[in-house]
Amino acid sequence: MALPEILRRPMSIPVVASPMFIASGPELVIEQCKAGVIGSFPALNARPADLLDEWLTRIQQELADHTAANPDRPAAPFAVNQIVHRSNDRLDHDVQACVDHQVPIVITSLGAREDVYEAIHSYGGIVLHDIINNEFAHKAIDKGADGLIAVASGAGGHAGTTSPFALLREIRQWFDGPLLLSGSLGHGASILAAQVAGADLAYVGSAFLSVHEANTPDDYKQMIVDSTSQDIVYSNLFTGVHGNYLRGSIVAAGMDPDNLPESDPSAMNFGSGGNQKSKAWKDIWGAGQGLATLTKRQSVADLVAQLRHEYEAALTSTPIFDGTELRPLRG
Ligand SMILES: Cc1cc2nc3c(=O)[nH]c(=O)nc-3n(C[C@H](O)[C@H](O)[C@H](O)COP(=O)(O)O)c2cc1C
Repeated sequence: MALPEILRRPMSIPVVASPMFIASGPELVIEQCKAGVIGSFPALNARPADLLDEWLTRIQQELADHTAANPDRPAAPFAVNQIVHRSNDRLDHDVQACVDHQVPIVITSLGAREDVYEAIHSYGGIVLHDIINNEFAHKAIDKGADGLIAVASGAGGHAGTTSPFALLREIRQWFDGPLLLSGSLGHGASILAAQVAGADLAYVGSAFLSVHEANTPDDYKQMIVDSTSQDIVYSNLFTGVHGNYLRGSIVAAGMDPDNLPESDPSAMNFGSGGNQKSKAWKDIWGAGQGLATLTKRQSVADLVAQLRHEYEAALTSTPIFDGTELRPLRG
């Protein structure tokens, strides 16, 4: 199946910058799109709810201005993430804002709902739904999602436990539509590998946590730069669903990362007051395992240029088997 037109627009690298609670705001999204990757943010980051309309107006205006001034390098499209969980009491309001602004791409998480998909389709928008296993993937497509984001092991936020190779192959057995891969894709070679393994685009989150434009505290940015996969702890304590977190932030909060108690899904609370009480996403910092190559704090533009450079280097250096011997993929 051909990719929808909106995913085939000019990009500098085949990446959707994933939505991240607190971290992704208009500054980050605008710079991501200007740098040529699809930027995104969770609707819930705009608080109070009325702020969402303001953010969407600003993002659309600044991206249009950029494209008008730079027709040779137009801004990439942007996406809004909706948490489709029963505790999200803002969902109807936030979906209506996307309809009013004709947001081109909507990313849904934690629940697949036909009425949400229909609302986005009503003006020609597309919906990508994120899943951690093949069963949820089937459900989302059956209900009308246009594409899937496979959240594999090692991803930041609510990560799955399935190998990316297993997950992509299971989905590609029955689905030839838009498929993104998420989880530790913080290097250009990993982005290329995601495509070779069956994804159309990479879905990259944690790599953007340390950029200047991210709405993350200074210490969080630095911890991203200083950490590796060994500093990531997988726990369900903070939101009720398993996710990956920086060990250093758990220690700083006075807890033992190696002896965290178990929680349960009823602890999940998104929406107007969502997850504020436990301040789960504020004091305990989420991140995926793909941090080791993020060794400096830089701008979005510089990070995207780095990923592109790494991607191109991988195209030249990746050995492929030509039937007799190993040769570089390109060159
Ligand atoms: C701090 C943090 C917050 C996140 N918040 C959200 C969110 O609000 N909604 C969502 O759909 N995904 C969220 N995610 C998951 C990302 O969208 C994405 O799946 C993940 O970051 C990709 O893996 P990577 O971080 O290893 O690149 C979050 C991830 C992180 C690290």
